[in-house]
Amino acid sequence: MGTNQRVSFFSFSFFLPILLAILSSVPSTVSGNGFSIREATVRDLQLAFKYNRLTSRQLVEFYLEQIHRLNPIFHGISEVNPDALDLADKADQERRTKAPESLSRLHGIPIVLKDNIATKDKMNSTAGSFALLGSVVPRDAGVVARLRKAGAIILGKASMTEWSFFRSTTAPIGWSPRSGQGKNAYTLGNPCGSSSGSAISVATNMAALSLGVETDDSIICPSSRNSVVGIKPTVGLTSRSGVVAVSPRQDTVGPICRTVSDAAYVLEAIVGVDIHDHATIKASKYIPKGGYAQFLRIDGLRGKRLGVVRDFENLLHLNPGGVSASIETFHQNLNTLRQRGAILVDNLKLDNITELYFTDYGELVALRAEFKLSLNAYLKELIASPVRSLADVIEFNKNNPVLEKIEYGQDTMLQAQATNGIGKAEKAARQNLKRLTKNGFVKLMKKNKLDALVTPVDISSRILAIGGFPGISVPAGYTKDGPFGICFGGLKGSEPKLIEIAYGFEQATKIRKPPPLQNFKL
Ligand SMILES: *[C@@H]1O[C@H](CO)[C@@H](O)[C@H](O)[C@H]1NC(C)=O
Ligand SMILES: *[C@@H]1O[C@H](CO)[C@@H](O)[C@H](O)[C@H]1NC(C)=O
Repeated sequence: MGTNQRVSFFSFSFFLPILLAILSSVPSTVSGNGFSIREATVRDLQLAFKYNRLTSRQLVEFYLEQIHRLNPIFHGISEVNPDALDLADKADQERRTKAPESLSRLHGIPIVLKDNIATKDKMNSTAGSFALLGSVVPRDAGVVARLRKAGAIILGKASMTEWSFFRSTTAPIGWSPRSGQGKNAYTLGNPCGSSSGSAISVATNMAALSLGVETDDSIICPSSRNSVVGIKPTVGLTSRSGVVAVSPRQDTVGPICRTVSDAAYVLEAIVGVDIHDHATIKASKYIPKGGYAQFLRIDGLRGKRLGVVRDFENLLHLNPGGVSASIETFHQNLNTLRQRGAILVDNLKLDNITELYFTDYGELVALRAEFKLSLNAYLKELIASPVRSLADVIEFNKNNPVLEKIEYGQDTMLQAQATNGIGKAEKAARQNLKRLTKNGFVKLMKKNKLDALVTPVDISSRILAIGGFPGISVPAGYTKDGPFGICFGGLKGSEPKLIEIAYGFEQATKIRKPPPLQNFKL
């Protein structure tokens, strides 16, 4: 490996136009010929640090330049951290003075956070809404405290569907008053949401890594649609404290990254007990000794029992992430899984699937009441805030109409405001969700001794959401409508197996291609 003969690579103002011109042909590896930050993985970046080919400052400068150029088109970033360069200098300093073994894998690597994840710094945490602009949070969110401890650089906040799609059923997906319309990294169309900006920013290389938050579909869908990897962890595995909440029963914070290994490293950094989120205590039993990186096994598919429910293929049109022409590719993906040693347990039936997909099965009834309770709790805890309750937010919205989006009302918020705690209807709804989970997914998994259920795009997300189960979306193909993923879902705490499966699939297929930015007018 050569020395620093290509150090001039990092004079970005000179190189960036060339870089953008040859976007699709630049390899993402460290080599004797130089080093490309674009598409670089955590492993690539750490190697580049180690061989003095890269500093965190250069890395942050690269992403700031990318954001400057690309964000006006994609709207994936809502704010940049004014301290990012200082944090980079600090990381570079630490790398010079500390023992390499004492630094974590994420040390010196920039990450963006969905805008509903609170940071106690110069940045705003607003869930996309002007109502929270200027609010002062009591402390970093639990996951942010862990990222800082791991030495990651908080580069900025990612845009999102305002209030995690809990303002209005007519809200444009990926749109918020603060950030405008987030655009799909491949098509400039629907990016899916609500963690739209997280997926857009890593897909377009405006950040190395990102965090999203999911209540139902909000990590899996944008990951699928933007050809990146999303891990929706078991509920409670990652702390939700300091997250503008929808439902403690379903909310979960997880990584959205370009590769399974990057996502696994981020997951490893953010899991663990947080006294501000009691669910983390019980879920901590799922954290494997030695972390998640050990499950990045090239033979991860061998012997894994994967369930296939063919009924899902007829339901794709029901989900926002559904892509019409993806079924043929999904069938090819299944063949790949089989060839790599997985055992496909095919033609399974999921009990009550019709009830789940064609009736009002209770999820929204429960979520509306839970949203009111948990949003009010979040707002009450703020040190200062223009709004202190859901009622205040509704009033704020009335007084601040979104002029360019006439249709954008607040029906969901009004329905939530009309709830009154967890009453009879909500209890019945929760019971129903429990029953559907027990009779459906849990029975299917246990009876067939499955390691994971494998489904196209994001179609199984509601099943994973209502039961608090983990899932991973991995890039699986492209159609003229854009990219789509394949989803592996498992029982609580099955992240190690899901990572083995997802990594095995990713390494066998290497489907992700960077977006064709040269096709867009920059
Ligand atoms: C946070 O919002 C305030 C407006 O209240 C703005 O002045 C400031 O620049 C924002 N912070 C960042 C990092 O963008
Ligand atoms: C749910 O599935 C169970 C088991 O197959 C069945 O007995 C029951 O009738 C189903 N309920 C509904 C509402 O479809």
